[in-house]
Amino acid sequence: MTGRKGFLFVFEGIDGAGKSTQARKLARGLRAGGFEVVSLREPTGGRWGREIRRKARQAGSLTPDQELELFLRDRRDDVERNLNPLLAAGRIVVLDRYYFSTIAYQGAKGLDPEAIRRRNERFAPRPDLVFILDVPASRGLNRIAGRRTKDALFEREGYLRKVRRIFRGFRGRRFVHLDARRDRDELGREILVLALKKTGRSVMISNHDRRQEKMDHPHRQDR
Ligand code: TYD
Repeated sequence: MTGRKGFLFVFEGIDGAGKSTQARKLARGLRAGGFEVVSLREPTGGRWGREIRRKARQAGSLTPDQELELFLRDRRDDVERNLNPLLAAGRIVVLDRYYFSTIAYQGAKGLDPEAIRRRNERFAPRPDLVFILDVPASRGLNRIAGRRTKDALFEREGYLRKVRRIFRGFRGRRFVHLDARRDRDELGREILVLALKKTGRSVMISNHDRRQEKMDHPHRQDR
């Protein structure tokens, strides 16, 4: 076990839920609070991550099991090269997708979600918080639709519905389920407050943000 002094904050959600935007906001907010933050994503830009992206472009080129093996290889690399050393060095890591994506996406292809979880948790450090950004599949797809044909979109929507169902089923202290249709800035502030709390640092949002919070939520108790 690596001695761990840092914090790991993870963003999860279906395609188009807005994870990357919120991950960027959180990293920025934590840096402004004086923390050393490293932003990472999976699939990574490393050897296995590049292979995943290349194969993903040729639909149907991999079986669900082969897909799972590639994501696991990519993750092992990420854990050994990045996550473990950074957490041991006391950094905050903000990670855009982690093994909950494997549970949800490969689980939605018929693999056993519980078995996927167990395999990952043998080597992957547990996150301190997992922000699950929830949007309906149709809405997520609208945000990223771009080049896909109607048929491909239809098929993708059915798949993402299953993925979303698995994401929504995660329960436990570290999971924070959030409605990603809410105002981005408001969502960002809520996420920052929760992350700061987790680090043990009292809330450090600026007075401007504090006033704004009060106006947005006049009845909310200061936490
Ligand atoms: P990416 O280019 O990172 O897209 P996004 O911006 O939506 O995160 O590609 C990630 C895709 O790979 C995404 O559709 C989810 C999928 N994925 C899995 O199927 N399993 C996994 O373990 C991970 C990390 C991602």
